[in-house]
Amino acid sequence: MRITVIGAGYVGLVQAACLADLGHGVCCVDVDEKKISLLRAGRAPFHEPGLSELLSRVISSGALEFSTEITRGLTDAEVAFIAVGTPSAPDGAADLSFVHAVFEQILSSAPRQLIVAVKSTVPVGTCRTLQQIAAGATRPIHVVSNPEFLREGSALHDFMNPDRIIIGCEDQGAGAVISDLYKKLAAPVLLTSFESAEMIKYASNSFLALEISYINSIALLCERVGADASAVSAGMRLDKRIGQRAFLHPGLGYGGSCFPKDVRALISLARATGRELGLLDEADRINLGMQEYFVARIAEQLGGDVRGKKIAVWGAAFKPNTDDVRESPALAIICQLAVRGADVVFFDPIVESATVAVGGLVLRRGETPLGVCAGADALVIATDWADFSLVPPVDIHAALRAPVVIDGRNIFDPAAMRAAGLRYVSIGRPTV
Ligand code: NAD
Ligand code: UGA
Repeated sequence: MRITVIGAGYVGLVQAACLADLGHGVCCVDVDEKKISLLRAGRAPFHEPGLSELLSRVISSGALEFSTEITRGLTDAEVAFIAVGTPSAPDGAADLSFVHAVFEQILSSAPRQLIVAVKSTVPVGTCRTLQQIAAGATRPIHVVSNPEFLREGSALHDFMNPDRIIIGCEDQGAGAVISDLYKKLAAPVLLTSFESAEMIKYASNSFLALEISYINSIALLCERVGADASAVSAGMRLDKRIGQRAFLHPGLGYGGSCFPKDVRALISLARATGRELGLLDEADRINLGMQEYFVARIAEQLGGDVRGKKIAVWGAAFKPNTDDVRESPALAIICQLAVRGADVVFFDPIVESATVAVGGLVLRRGETPLGVCAGADALVIATDWADFSLVPPVDIHAALRAPVVIDGRNIFDPAAMRAAGLRYVSIGRPTV
């Protein structure tokens, strides 16, 4: 089938490349000329494991092409996916201006009947509004809600192995066409209304965010009562009703371009209907509180003030295996330490210094994990890259000026750190 995907970001580009790999002919469109030039040269504009290899395969086979012109994408498309951003507006609601702008362009340029599938995360009511707008179009346009559930850092795997495919539609024929696009994927398909499909996306992200804030609240209590939050999390996840994949890893809290904005958008949507979602307000508050709490713990370990202290930080991305720093708790910690007068040098395997020059602060990036520790008064761990936990604790001890490690992601075994002579502070576990 001929498809166009509008928006070549973390979702759109992965969608376009994977659909091409599934045998469809895809044109991916983005207004960002730099991004499209890079892609035409076969280069991925962001870090996502496996994406470069997949791109070279589907570009060279002719299954995937790129354009800055939506009209090019629509020339022979039967389906157009909208995968542009839906960032937070100042009041927390989702800003739908990119989605509406693209939809208007589709209406004015679609040369024939078209199915428009909305991949972007949009508030309940959006697809119905788009369908109503389409009623005035000269050609039949069927809107379908098809939310995406992939995670950055494992996006290709998630796309090809989804837990479920959600399709919200009014027109059953259009829903069947979208379902058919994914027929090679072994996943249950749930056909439902626009409203339910849109709500499934927000309710799922918000539920996962709630889990994280819940375990972080329990973790802070564990510190007070001498329990170990990692053991508590492991014990809870053995309950099959909770599950091994539950988002119950204590730490600095959730970041990224989705959980924070989607939680706030759902709160805002509820408020607009006259309902309060106090549970989510609290999850958001707890999440931001973790950063404040962590910075205070770092200061406490350094004699009450970080000013003038040399602090090594491991991690800048909001999670491992991505270069995305949007709403990154790690980046927030780096900035807060720098603003308080600490001399911060960070190391992240992928994130470059240029990306983390925030509000006039120019942040220094070192070349290796141990390199940034050299002569430092403390090591702070802010992102749980797998390679970090492979660094021998004795080597950390040898590099640091003072043997203090404050770990916001609980990546080390406290006993091993203590055996190496390090003072080790983590989240929800006894300090050793
Ligand atoms: P992104 O910011 O990485 O990419 C959006 C792209 O859209 C950008 O490249 C931008 O240039 C392009 N764009 C904007 N206006 C355009 C226009 N008029 N025409 C063509 N291109 C245009 O965003 P993302 O992270 O891919 O997220 C996209 C949507 O998917 C959001 O609603 C997000 O909530 C949702 N989502 C994201 C993820 C994720 O892991 N990032 C997962 C599931 C759902
Ligand atoms: C998340 C969801 O997992 C995806 O299903 C969804 O499609 C996506 O948001 C979206 O809508 O954009 P993502 O943000 O890429 O995916 O990453 P996650 O792995 O979910 O992690 C989000 C944040 O939560 C990270 O900062 C991570 O460090 C944190 N986290 C995760 C915890 O603090 N504890 C956990 O137990 C799990």
